[in-house]
Amino acid sequence: MSIAQKIHLSEPQFNRLSKVIYDRSGIHFPEAKKYILESRLSHRLGELEMEDFDQYINYLTMGPYQMDEFQEMFNRITINETSFFRNDAQLGVFERRILPEIMERRTNKRLRIWSAACSSGEEPFTIAMLLHRTLGVRLPDWHIEILGTDISEKALNVAHDGLYSQYAMRQTPQLIKDRYFKDEGRNFRLSDEIRTMVSFERHNLKDRLAAKRHGTWDIIFCRNVLIYFDDPMKEGVLKMFHDQLAEDGTLFIGHSERIKDLNHGFEALPIPEGFCHQKQDYIASQQGAAA
Ligand SMILES: C[S@@+](CC[C@H](N)C(=O)[O-])C[C@H]1O[C@@H](n2cnc3c(N)ncnc32)[C@H](O)[C@@H]1O
Repeated sequence: MSIAQKIHLSEPQFNRLSKVIYDRSGIHFPEAKKYILESRLSHRLGELEMEDFDQYINYLTMGPYQMDEFQEMFNRITINETSFFRNDAQLGVFERRILPEIMERRTNKRLRIWSAACSSGEEPFTIAMLLHRTLGVRLPDWHIEILGTDISEKALNVAHDGLYSQYAMRQTPQLIKDRYFKDEGRNFRLSDEIRTMVSFERHNLKDRLAAKRHGTWDIIFCRNVLIYFDDPMKEGVLKMFHDQLAEDGTLFIGHSERIKDLNHGFEALPIPEGFCHQKQDYIASQQGAAA
């Protein structure tokens, strides 16, 4: 069988496969997205010389290589769409409002930022460039930790290489391109001064224990991934962020993500373009102090 051939994913097979994916990652594939699994995984079945999806699901769930195969599958089925300087207005709120406020409170000059579900690194590297630009010569006075995590190893490998296409740069201001990238013709290479500010690790947002091991963060970015989850998974992830965020920390989510009606302990700040949230208890304590 040719590895390019599309293999039919029947409804019962889709139900089984989407449940396995959901249980492992929280990613919810509605029936309307069946074609994504069919088209992206048919090629994998071809590589494994498998005739149908029943065989693949058994291999995925029962075979000796199941952990490796889950990774392989997530490399193929996740949507890794991202870019540098994605949502400029929101980043402006981060740079000009949230960052100066928290830096003033951090007299120990330590700051920890987590970019959760960072895909190929454009988001945490953008955060690093903003910090580099904001702090300038004061940067060495600070101990700054920026961690980018994602479930897809393939996406993280791009981040490790630090080499980006024109497409990834489509929203990057020219001044930033000139300052932090080397134009290598087809691609742009990110400078070492920014690359070394960020570390990367594979992490599944379902894994609360691993998140706990990373300790407490001052700022968490988790943008454009909650849209792939259903409400119980969103609540679980938001509660995990609540546990891992400092009392006065801030959570940034994607502009199309609505979490208002869910149970998580966060409250949105009244900045329409910010899509940023702080803990309800912290906001209440601030309001109490101001009254
Ligand atoms: C559309 S990208 C968003 C990237 C970046 N945050 C942004 O806004 O530009 C969504 C990312 O979420 C990751 N993802 C999906 N489910 C995940 C999970 N359970 N744990 C960790 N990452 C996940 C995907 O691999 C993908 O790279």
